[in-house]
Order: sequence, then C-alpha cells, then structure tokens
Amino acid sequence: MTTEPLPALHATRRIAGDWHVLPGWLPVPDLGVISVNAFLLAGEEPMLVDTGVAALSDAVLANLEARIDLTDLRWIWLSHTDADHIGNLDRVLARAPNARVITNFLGAAKMGLLGAGDPERLRLLDPGEAIEIAGRRLHQIKPPYYDAPETMGFFDETDRVLFAADAFGAVLPNPVETIDDVRPEALREGLVAWSSIDAPWLALIDRGTLGRMLRALDDLEPAHVFSGHLPVADRLDTLTRIIRDSYGRGTTDAVTPDTITEVEAVLA
Ligand SMILES: [Fe+2]
Ligand SMILES: [Fe+2]
Repeated sequence: MTTEPLPALHATRRIAGDWHVLPGWLPVPDLGVISVNAFLLAGEEPMLVDTGVAALSDAVLANLEARIDLTDLRWIWLSHTDADHIGNLDRVLARAPNARVITNFLGAAKMGLLGAGDPERLRLLDPGEAIEIAGRRLHQIKPPYYDAPETMGFFDETDRVLFAADAFGAVLPNPVETIDDVRPEALREGLVAWSSIDAPWLALIDRGTLGRMLRALDDLEPAHVFSGHLPVADRLDTLTRIIRDSYGRGTTDAVTPDTITEVEAVLA
C-alpha cells in the first residue's frame, strides 16, 4: 500500500511526439490505488483528453498551464461523462475559450442532463467518423469494455497511440510510472479486479466476440496504450491476454487462469 497522501497528481510526462500524460492517483479503500489520467496533445492544435477528477482540479489546471497557454487549447476529447473524466471540464472550458468538446450524440445529451459543458461548443462525431487534428487522423474506437455507452476511445495513426478510456484500468499496490514497474501477478490481479468492478457485464460476454474485439485492437499494433486508469503501457498484448484469459467463459464471475487450472484439475 502507498504511504503517499492521495489523491495526488504526479508530474506531467511526455510519452511520444506531442503526447503527454497528466498522471493522477486515487486511493481505492482496501484494494490499493488507481490511476485517473488525463492526456495532452500539445502542438499546433492542442487537445486535452479527459479532464481528471475535481479533487485534483487546481493541480490539473496548474500542470496544464505549465505546458500550454489554455487560450490555445482547441479540443477536449471527452471519453465519457463519468465524474472521473468530466471533473474539471467546466473549469477548463472557462479558461480555454477557443476549445470545443469532442463527443457524440449520447455524450452531448448526458452533458446536458448534468448541466456540464456548453452545448454551443461541441464537435459531435458520428459513429465511426474520424477527425483530423493538426494533420493527424484520430480514428474512433469502441473499447472492448466500458461503463458508459457514450464511451469513445481513439487510435492516433501518427504516433500509434491507442486511447482505451476506462478499458485496461487496474487497481495497483502503489503509484508507478509505467506498468513495467508492476509485478505481472499484481497487474493481472489488479486488472481483473478493476474490470470486474467497472464492467461487471464483461463476465457475461461471448468468448468469441470478446476475442475478436481484442484481436482487432491488437491488430492496430499500438506503440502506446493510454487508459484512464492505468499507467501508460507500451505492450497492448500483455493487457489483452489478461482479459482474454480471464473472461468470456459464460460465467457470472471473473475467472482467472488459476481458477481454470484448478477446475480442470478437479475434472481430470
Ligand atoms: Fe467510466
Ligand atoms: Fe473512469
């Protein structure tokens, strides 16, 4: 367990090209800690990806303003309207008068119900529509699991960044910079624990369907995996393998490879 006072926002870190992570950490009582990340694409048309939690509002604003002039911010990609993603939206919009929020029809409707954002400052994406930001194409992707139906991830062709929104989040023993700093067993347990909490329906999904969705993501061959709830990773297959091995077996509980081995041993 961490001894650092949480929530906390760690130093902004450049990942690749103009991409940066603003790594937030929240405590998860009795389980450990979890990332709550926002991402910044600096450069010609700066874009913020999600806005972090309100509990870290001052730090998020200060760290953003240390990187860019917020009046230059052009886009805010909002993955979905959960509090841990939309938490600082209104504060950012107030300081970034030239920014528009990229969302979809349902995201816009839910923002309206929440009284968040500004309906005059939306860029609605149609299903499957790609968007060009400063010469790079961002392709919408539907993550293999999520907790809100408006969820939109993306794949950036230029830097091969996959943004998976809530998917691949993990409860971890303590804050770390990358998942290379996490023991494989802790990563597997933390990823299965969090996905069971965040997307309990995942355990009901048809195994073939889940496998095809995961393979389609693997086929993109991302160089960097951005999740709202995991330190930045560079190997998607490490993550998809854990999900593939743990779900999609028609049970109502998350099943780990160990459980399967035990059951098979009993049946043998
Ligand atoms: Fe969520
Ligand atoms: Fe989330």
